[in-house]
Amino acid sequence: MSTNLYPPLNLKVITPRLELHGATDELLAQLLPVVRGGVVAGQPYPFDDPMSLYEDNPVRERKWLQAIWRGRGNVHPESWRLYFVILLGEQAVGMQDLIGVNFDTCQTVTSFSWLAPSVRQQGLGREMRAAILHLAFEGFGAAEAASEAFFDNLASNRVSESMGYQPNGSDWATRRGEPAVLNRWRLKRDDWAPNRRSDIELIGAEECKAVLHIK
Ligand SMILES: CC(C)(COP(=O)(O)OP(=O)(O)OC[C@H]1O[C@@H](n2cnc3c(N)ncnc32)[C@H](O)[C@@H]1OP(=O)(O)O)[C@@H](O)C(=O)NCCC(=O)NCCS
Repeated sequence: MSTNLYPPLNLKVITPRLELHGATDELLAQLLPVVRGGVVAGQPYPFDDPMSLYEDNPVRERKWLQAIWRGRGNVHPESWRLYFVILLGEQAVGMQDLIGVNFDTCQTVTSFSWLAPSVRQQGLGREMRAAILHLAFEGFGAAEAASEAFFDNLASNRVSESMGYQPNGSDWATRRGEPAVLNRWRLKRDDWAPNRRSDIELIGAEECKAVLHIK
């Protein structure tokens, strides 16, 4: 798909440590070896069902790509999803998604992310969440960001807590068929603003607003 036909493919969020680039097919191809190698390192399982990354190869990579391609076409005023590849220099190391949930009426978003197992626990998870929050609040004028993580996903829960999200109850979901409790988190715009970063650059955000129905 030409990046000119779908402006989110031209989006970039640049921080001093890493860059989020709209997930073009070329970048997905660069990330494919990581997906092939495995994103789920073992228990506790981090993702709720259904999840391509739990599948065996080659179903895993096909379903992973198909979900992203579907997401490009599934854009409505109340529901959209932007997919970013995380670049560390030239190296594609993970994904960060921004998901609009009733954005037209409530200006709310949620997010989803993963990193290659080899680059975890180096502060990149926090940095990419800070980047996507900057796009949501600064670029798109979001009012609130949500996040969910299974109770035993220490890294994801800690990222949310350390970014200033407040606990927002819990829910149940299944992972690989087994039920488990999800912690729910919310970060209001007023709680994000005091910690707003001045070293994150947005490229191409304005051009995405029309296609995402953002006023
Ligand atoms: C979630 C994820 C993106 C976080 O990225 P990361 O780079 O590993 O996290 P960071 O290095 O930024 O660490 C963030 C915090 O979590 C803590 N942390 C990270 N991994 C941890 C672990 N395995 N156990 C306990 N604490 C952990 C860090 O110490 C840090 O805490 P601090 O702010 O108090 O210093 C990454 O771990 C991942 O890809 N996990 C698998 C997929 C996943 O869980 N996705 C989210 C689904 S909801």
